[in-house]
Amino acid sequence: MTDLSFWILIHTTRTAPKPPGTPPSLSAGLIPPILSQARGVVLEVGPGSGSQMSSLKGPQITKIYGAEPCADLHEKLQSQANDHNLQDRYQILAAGASTDQIVKELLRGGFITSYKEGDTLFDTIICVRALCSISNPQTAASELYRLLRPGGRMLICEHVANPWTKPKGSIVARIVQQVYMICGWAFFIGDCRLNQDTARILLKAAEEDGGWAENNLEMAASFSTFPYLHGVLVKGS
Ligand SMILES: C[S@@+](CC[C@H](N)C(=O)[O-])C[C@H]1O[C@@H](n2cnc3c(N)ncnc32)[C@H](O)[C@@H]1O
Repeated sequence: MTDLSFWILIHTTRTAPKPPGTPPSLSAGLIPPILSQARGVVLEVGPGSGSQMSSLKGPQITKIYGAEPCADLHEKLQSQANDHNLQDRYQILAAGASTDQIVKELLRGGFITSYKEGDTLFDTIICVRALCSISNPQTAASELYRLLRPGGRMLICEHVANPWTKPKGSIVARIVQQVYMICGWAFFIGDCRLNQDTARILLKAAEEDGGWAENNLEMAASFSTFPYLHGVLVKGS
């Protein structure tokens, strides 16, 4: 990572509540129905300051591990877990989206007692606006896929490169994304890339098994500078 300080400042500063009647953002509307499909042992990748906590309270979730490598966000993340009465179920891992780091933290905390290559650990893996910030997204996605149990789900809500070659895409929005990137978007917004083809990365991650058993990914706001890839991927049993 380069410099997350600006992003951390935004996400740890208390802001005034939005006035009643303010419409929810696009992603705020997309995320809860997707996260309602989380169950069992869950890994939340890059939870940041815990903005998805309210969607993780369902009784079908037994444990949630939040793999957040940025230690400066842990205090806010923990307080969000406490505020949502999830302190017994939400466990912060000081880890990035890599098998080595996740397993090391799980062993250190006594959450698992052993691990051998090929072991699967999670029923659900959540990636909400996380793969855009991970420096080696293909490696991370492939490792996350391998950690997912057979029949497990990957829940996705990620902003991605504008699909400008598709009928609903926009070349103007794609150019604007490039301009933002040239002007330092990634530097100011915690390494975030606006121009990533995350669908391709996720599909490639499952190629070793012949692909995902189910792929319900869709695009929202395909015409915009912030189109969202969202939906559920299910690993074969
Ligand atoms: C744009 S923020 C999104 C936070 C949260 N998911 C949300 O939607 O509000 C990206 C998050 O990914 C985290 N991150 C960066 N590199 C990561 C990595 N290699 N593995 C896991 N998380 C990472 C950042 O620390 C940050 O918390």
